[in-house]
Amino acid sequence: MSWFDLFRKHPVAQRTAADAPSRRLRYGLAAAAGRGALTRADLETALDEHGLLRGDPRLVGCYRYLDALAPRAAIDVESFLAAIDAPAESLLARAFAGELAAPAFADLRQRIRRAYDDAKNLKGGAVANYIPALAEADPSAWTVAFCSVDGQTCAFGDAHAAFTIQSVHKPFSYGLALAQHGVANVHKHMGFEPSGKRFNEITLDEQGRPHNPMVNAGGIMSAALIEPGKSAPERTAGMIQLLRTLSGGVEIGMDFEAYDSEKRHADRNFALAYFMRENNAFPAGADMNEALDAYFRFCAVMMHAKGLAAIGAALANDGACVFTGAAPIPREDVARMLCIMFTCGMYDLSGEFAYSIGVPSKSGVSGALLFVVPGLGGFAAFSPPLDALGHSVRGKAFAKRMAAELELSIFVGRRSWMTPHLSVAHNAAAFDLFQWLTAARLGDVAEMRRLLARGVIVDAADYDGRTALHVAAEAGREAAVAFLLRKGAARDRRDARGETPADAARRSGEAKLALELRV
Ligand code: DON
Repeated sequence: MSWFDLFRKHPVAQRTAADAPSRRLRYGLAAAAGRGALTRADLETALDEHGLLRGDPRLVGCYRYLDALAPRAAIDVESFLAAIDAPAESLLARAFAGELAAPAFADLRQRIRRAYDDAKNLKGGAVANYIPALAEADPSAWTVAFCSVDGQTCAFGDAHAAFTIQSVHKPFSYGLALAQHGVANVHKHMGFEPSGKRFNEITLDEQGRPHNPMVNAGGIMSAALIEPGKSAPERTAGMIQLLRTLSGGVEIGMDFEAYDSEKRHADRNFALAYFMRENNAFPAGADMNEALDAYFRFCAVMMHAKGLAAIGAALANDGACVFTGAAPIPREDVARMLCIMFTCGMYDLSGEFAYSIGVPSKSGVSGALLFVVPGLGGFAAFSPPLDALGHSVRGKAFAKRMAAELELSIFVGRRSWMTPHLSVAHNAAAFDLFQWLTAARLGDVAEMRRLLARGVIVDAADYDGRTALHVAAEAGREAAVAFLLRKGAARDRRDARGETPADAARRSGEAKLALELRV
């Protein structure tokens, strides 16, 4: 069990006063109103600033309430609170307190827009022409989207420009194969290593398997592994269902013209499949033609950039949809998908791209590009002109610009997920506090010592006024309590419920600690 699991078993929310979100939301609403009464326009502006858009399944009640009002009508806070459900209440409370993944969302959106505008003027690259349906794409089409792990969304360009995902399906077909067969069985049939070759190169590794799940051979192998008893259309329905679930229900379809066109011009993929069959690479009983058909169908799955960004956000969120919490693929497998995207997602550009953007990514020959910042969110870009290796020229430039400007690299250190570009300054401190209280809950004295050395304040309290001493006392962590007292922790702090650390210990049956902590 990881440290993170331990924490998740004891969510802070369980321990807060039942009315905390609405109390906090009232403050947030008062701040949004400024001096006068809170109007519909005020609230819509505040929601927009946080990227909490109309159509967000969590905010159906909220927007329904607002839509029934005239734009300048004053909002009656009590009836507004009655109209929204508990998750919406807590989402809005967190938004207005600056606690979402991108607290300074309006600033982030500005930066995305500038990068989008600058990349628009880029020339160069050529639309893929080896599949006739792709050759017809509009080279000027250019759209990007971002979705944070809290579902904060923005998109620029033609929001209705749907595109086929092409190879961007490969992490997901790999994920489905992993979820259905487990890592050991899947990797009997494919490797882990970057091939250093083009995406459709006729090459296998020394054991006669595709080098990895991201090259075409690997994609075809995943398509062979997924629900092997089912037909290609049935497997595709499973793929679409997966993507829809991860996205929180966006429209996902299939471009049958692209599918048809690819299938009729697929000598290379047929050659690859025959080469794999000759090498006994397929699982016993696999139907090669059905696998190829499923592969072509997966490539022809269609969606908008906003939907792809939401799917990326789910990957950034341990595989849980950021809008609904649905998690169709186990988080260990999601981590494997991201790892393979990082090392192999850009084919023979994977090394350079990993080096320059520092996060997992995947491209497709339609001009689609997905890159995922674990813990922060997903970016999607679409622009058909490709470089010589098959990656969108504008998409690549956009990813590099975002990564540099926002310090997205996973190697810069976890605090950098919350750099000042993305958040208000207090987030770094909030993150330390979160770790501090967690260490106290777990009784991890070594971690507490480390955090104190970083400058955490012994009596720092969370938004419910709870200090590390409250948390450690309640969890019965004697060593942590003793450590805190040695460091001068105050026994008389009262949290929002009026409890001292001794009260918290008593309430959870820690009589000895309750006595020791008497004020
Ligand atoms: O297999 C093919 O040729 C395409 N349908 C997918 C390849 C692809 O997207 C490569 N990506 N850059």
